[in-house]
Order: sequence, then C-alpha cells, then structure tokens
Amino acid sequence: MQHISKLPHVGTTIFTIMGALARAHNAINLSQGFPDFKMDEKLIDLVTKAMHNGYNQYAPMQGSIELRESIAKKLDLLYSSTYHPETEITITTGATQAIFSIILAFIKLKDEVVIFHPAYDCYEPAIELNGGKTISMALESPNFKVDWNAVKAKINNRTKMIIINTPQNPIGTVFSETDMLQLQDITKGTNIIVLSDEVYEHIVFDGEKHQSACLFSELKSRSFVVASFGKTFHNTGWRIGYCCAPKALMDEFRKVHQFNVFCVNHPMQEALAEYLENENHYLELSAFYQEKRDSFLGLIKDSRFKFTASKGTYFQLLDYSEITKENDVDFAKRLTIENKLASIPISVFYNTEVNSKILRFCFAKKNETLKRAADILNSI
Ligand SMILES: Cc1ncc(COP(=O)(O)O)c(C=O)c1O
Repeated sequence: MQHISKLPHVGTTIFTIMGALARAHNAINLSQGFPDFKMDEKLIDLVTKAMHNGYNQYAPMQGSIELRESIAKKLDLLYSSTYHPETEITITTGATQAIFSIILAFIKLKDEVVIFHPAYDCYEPAIELNGGKTISMALESPNFKVDWNAVKAKINNRTKMIIINTPQNPIGTVFSETDMLQLQDITKGTNIIVLSDEVYEHIVFDGEKHQSACLFSELKSRSFVVASFGKTFHNTGWRIGYCCAPKALMDEFRKVHQFNVFCVNHPMQEALAEYLENENHYLELSAFYQEKRDSFLGLIKDSRFKFTASKGTYFQLLDYSEITKENDVDFAKRLTIENKLASIPISVFYNTEVNSKILRFCFAKKNETLKRAADILNSI
C-alpha cells in the first residue's frame, strides 16, 4: 500500500534518539527535560485518596471543577488576572495536547503562524498538519533577542497566530515586560491569536518576574496561556496541563478538545486541585532550580565550555566552540558515546541550517548527577 505522508519531513525526534543513545552507552542523560529525583509523596498520596474517594470515572470534559477553581485562584494570586473557571480554563493532557488542540481549532489552509526559532518541537508539525504555514523568526546567540520590528514586518492579513514561549526552551531566555508590550502593540487591531507557551512560568531566575500574557489586558484578550503541571511538580509522566483564554476562544478550543481526548485523568486532577491550595508548592520552584543552576555552573566555571547563565527553564546552554569544530549533532553524539554524557544539540530546534556550536543540558537532576556531569565536562 502506498500513502503520502502528511509530515514528510518529520522523523524520530532528537529526544528519542539521544535518550536511546544515552541508554545504549550507559551515559548520564541530561538530554530530555525531566527530573531524575522523586516527586513529592504528598501529591502521590492525594491521588490514592482521590481514587479511594471514588474519582475513578470520566472527569468533566473541561476538567475537574475543583482543579479549575484552584488554577483560577493561582492566576489571581500571581498575576491579578481573572479567568472564569467554568468557561475560561480547560485541563489538558499535558501542555502538548493544549498546544496541538489550539492549533487544530484555529489554523486553516494557508494561515500563517509566526514562531521563534530555536523552538520547542511540537509547534511546527501541528501547523503543517492543518495546512498552515510556519513563518520563522530566527533568534541568534548569544542573547537570542527578538527584533519586534522584524516580526511586525512579517505580519499580514494571512497571519493567524503568533506562538511565544517564555521562559523559552531550549535557550533559557525570558521575555521582558518590554517584549510583551511590543507584542501587544503589534497585534493590536488584528485578528491574531497569541499562543503563549508558559510551561516554565515557575522557573524564572535572578529575581525576575515571569511576564505572563495575561498580565497585559489587550494581549490577554487574544491569548491562550498554556501551562504544564509536569514541569512544576516533577511529574512529566502524569501528562496533565491546562490552558486558559477568554470565553469566545475557549469555546472553540473545547469543540476540538471534546473529540480529541474528551477528558483527562480524573484522580490526578483532584489531587492537583488540593495540592495547588498551598502556594509554596509552586512559589519555591525558582529558588530550588536556581540553586541547581548555580551549583552546576559553579562546578564547570573553569571548563572549556562557555556560557551565559540560563534566565529561566531548567536548561543551560553550553558553547563548545573552543573545543572542536564539529557540528553540534556530531559532537553531542560523540560526547554521549565516548564521554558518557548526553545532551541536545540546539540546531535541531531551528528549521534552517545553523552553524551553532551549542548544546543544551537539563539541570533538573540530583546534585550527584550534576556533579558527575560536571566532572565529565571539566575533563574535555
Ligand atoms: C516549551 C515547552 N512547551 C511544551 C512542553 C510540553 O509539556 P508537557 O510535557 O506538559 O506536554 C514542553 C516540554 O518539554 C516544553 O519544553
């Protein structure tokens, strides 16, 4: 049987490739973004409690109302932003499904979607599957700043969506208030939807404030804010996230969501609802990861890798241009096979060829794992 692929350019993702290579060579795996330490047992106990309390059947399509109410409280506390739990917040199967369903709900043939490369890998295939066209804005090292005038120049009557990601994976940058105001300004008076991927909202360093799209009223009126509990509560395998948006946008999202997943794991939602009531569970996260970032960078400060400290996310870029001229994919593979340390080459996050000599390392790891990784980096 012959078929035409709907995603002819997509193969196995680099995360799967590097993960498999790390396992095959018994390497320390700082490639994929997940913690190697345990999550809070209190949250596990809350799931057990929810199961004993009978939360074992379908959850409401929009998500557990208790969880949506807890999220609404959190958004009010952090951003003084009101989202109605009944109509403006939906629980999803991780941020990935929220992103996919938002794009599915709004992007039609030939619609243009602006994204900033290096970008998280799930945006583009979703755009392509819906017949949309990716308009790429390449951000360049070392500071990866957005040129908003250049973005403005790309906007026309086919522009349907702009996807932002702050803090940004893989580069560890955060948008400033000025960035957000410029985005607000260039989308004013248009029909552009903003998809604001904020899965690392609670991992922002050096006292900076996370600039959520919901802080800017005009921007909020056209935005989906996407979040992930996996990143926040160290349980990426639970696959629970959410998105919020004004009712008119959320109504369209739910038309797709109800036929896509219908609803999300019920007992875990109930557990998360109760766990969220204690705001320390998310407010302490930046300090927790900043300590890891600082200790990792302290350990490798005399290595031949160059770096600017990550401003957010749990990723750190390291520049190896003083070590070899190899391209980043080859060097990442060699580092895994010969030195037993896996990372992700950042060229894979671009949709054009780039000659960067930069690898991404995940520091959501136990201190002993980071120490062993640092020993390897210092030996190169
Ligand atoms: C920027 C970004 N967006 C979305 C996701 C997906 O999040 P989830 O695991 O909740 O689907 C990730 C996960 O790595 C990410 O880094």
